[in-house]
Amino acid sequence: MDNYLIRGGKALKGQVHISGSKNASLPIMAATLMAADEVVLCGVPDLEDINVMSDVLRLLGAKVERENDVLIIDTRNANSIELPEYMSRKMRASNLVMGALLARYKRAAVAYPGGCAIGSRPMDLHLKGFRALGYNITEECGVMYGEAEKLGGQETLLDFPSVGATENIMMAAALTPGITTLRNAAREPEIIDLQNFLNRMGARIRGAGLDTIRIEGVSKLHGVEHTVIPDRIEAGTFMVAAAITHGDVMIDNIVLEHIQSLVAKLREIGVDISTNGSWVRVSGHQALHSADIKTMPYPGFPTDMQPQMMALMSTVPGTSIVVETIFENRFMHVHELRRMGAEIKIEGRVAIIKGREKLEGAAVEASDLRAGAALVLAGLRARGETRVGTLEHIDRGYDKLHCKLQKLGADIERRTAAGSR
Ligand code: EPZ
Repeated sequence: MDNYLIRGGKALKGQVHISGSKNASLPIMAATLMAADEVVLCGVPDLEDINVMSDVLRLLGAKVERENDVLIIDTRNANSIELPEYMSRKMRASNLVMGALLARYKRAAVAYPGGCAIGSRPMDLHLKGFRALGYNITEECGVMYGEAEKLGGQETLLDFPSVGATENIMMAAALTPGITTLRNAAREPEIIDLQNFLNRMGARIRGAGLDTIRIEGVSKLHGVEHTVIPDRIEAGTFMVAAAITHGDVMIDNIVLEHIQSLVAKLREIGVDISTNGSWVRVSGHQALHSADIKTMPYPGFPTDMQPQMMALMSTVPGTSIVVETIFENRFMHVHELRRMGAEIKIEGRVAIIKGREKLEGAAVEASDLRAGAALVLAGLRARGETRVGTLEHIDRGYDKLHCKLQKLGADIERRTAAGSR
């Protein structure tokens, strides 16, 4: 089992290039099932989750080849509508093929995706949307079955602006006859990227990024070349890395408006953030102070940045309150941060953080992707050595994290059980 060995106390300095977005790449990869010919995706990050989605597509009969950060995906010979449990359990986002399978074959049989550490991750909103489009949806022995019954565009409203449900329904509706209006849709930038990708394939979708999306079903979609947007959560993670180490980092390949709520919060606590349009400079030289955070659907503060910000707030003087409104169990990093001396109390979905100047290095374990990132950030600041274990969680969503941090001056190495590499 690999782990990171981090010797804290170094201020990060230099420039980092952000990889393409994991959460834009995954739905777009699923949508390639709807293309009548080859698709070329550029800027796709080299992550475990991308490898899993590539295996999902291969299982469904597609050809997927990688050349550096380019994926060439040919689904012409794809022929299966079934995603078995052993595969769907590997990654929650594998459920995103259901909308594309319904769009292409008007049938699907997708095993329930695994829940994960941060929450039960139900599928009820996805299935309600498919039913509204005229699919007969049944659930049996952990498999979700979809069968075209009386297909037709409809007006449907999401009880909660679910990112995945918005993406899945958009994909199914794109090849369903009629006009579908999706209300209370999620507004994340990754949904705009999916709309742009589908429209370049010949779809007719309007409104992604707003709370109402209008989809006019078409009969066919063709292959395209598309470059995915930068990963706003990786960018945010490096912004916090600059702040927590009192460093001075230039970040390029970033779209600042995609993380405006994080930028506003970092500025509120005293982090200096400037931009010239193509890169962003983050310096944490100033004295930082506490602030309160409440995670919300986009454009509110992103839940995927909550653990990383909690690590930062643990090191700034004052008391900060963090409210996690999106997932029911996204405080597992707290137990591990406490091992490093962080003073954090949890009451339900509320965490009260009493910041302190210094954390102490310790042996900690990543429980999920963003919790792992938070522990790395805490280790970069802590006095002494920190070992972060269970790196497979971090490998799911960060492309060579330790290499990028080393280039910024961090004393971090990835060690296998046998030694370092
Ligand atoms: C996406 O997950 C992201 N993953 C998550 O990022 C992110 O945390 C999440 O959106 C929220 O922003 C990808 O894009 C691949 P949701 P998703 O459906 O679509 C409830 C990361 O770290 N819900 O918006 O699964 C659900 O339980 C990952 O990169 C239902 O109740 O999230 C949760 O409480 C972690 N019924 C809330 O909605 C449903 O049918 C938000 O979930 C669907 C969701």
